[in-house]
Amino acid sequence: MLLQDKTVIVTGGNSGIGAAIALAAGQEGANVVIDYVARPDATEELDERITKAGSEAIGVEADVSKVADLQKLIDAAVKEYGRVDVMVNNAGIETRTSVLDSTEADYDKVMAVNLKSAFFGTQLAAKQFIAQGGGGVVVNISSVHEDWPMPGNAPYCVSKGGMRMLTRNAGVELGPKGIRVIGIGPGAVDTPINSSTSADPEKLAALNAAIPLGRMAEPDEIAGAVVFLASDKGAYLTSTTVFIDGGIMMGSVGL
Ligand code: BGC
Repeated sequence: MLLQDKTVIVTGGNSGIGAAIALAAGQEGANVVIDYVARPDATEELDERITKAGSEAIGVEADVSKVADLQKLIDAAVKEYGRVDVMVNNAGIETRTSVLDSTEADYDKVMAVNLKSAFFGTQLAAKQFIAQGGGGVVVNISSVHEDWPMPGNAPYCVSKGGMRMLTRNAGVELGPKGIRVIGIGPGAVDTPINSSTSADPEKLAALNAAIPLGRMAEPDEIAGAVVFLASDKGAYLTSTTVFIDGGIMMGSVGL
């Protein structure tokens, strides 16, 4: 199994892409720490699925926009499983507001949940990795929008642009310590963040038409790659982003 006996922390781990990563990691033999802020029932359900797959999981309520709560996740992993091997900075939100419309509150919230959490999640995980003797993997769940503008979703794009540089900078700084830092850039994925699009047939048809593979991804189509790349099979990957987007960034309108 790809992650046998590794300890994996997933922020925003009880829904969407995070829940799919938590489950896939458990199915590959990992002990999983599921971070969540709401829906303890969803955390429990996921915990049961991971246990049924033969691995262990714990849910930890923590608001990753606060550094103290990120430390709580690391401490819980060390207390329960003795170490941390993979830190998945997955928690993310968007406001779908433009440069002109975004309020200070929109900006602060998106930056704190998406970027500040990933920055300090990387820092605290790296400190733990070093204390354990080196090695370890940080996975930053970014987006195609770390590169690609999305008009009307400005704070989100800015936060993902920051994650892009976090992955690059931290990968270069931490490589000599044997720590890898990977960015994953999903395109449109069928998760709660896209519920307004999935619920609107016209918007959904326009989105599907822009994707060469013709549809959104399922969360487990992102999770499979994360688990593979975080395992020793991905040992030479660091400091860059792998896009998993059905080709959306390369699409053209074909005039
Ligand atoms: C955003 C979605 C968007 C998708 C494709 C994701 O990162 O969260 O709102 O539909 O990218 O553009």
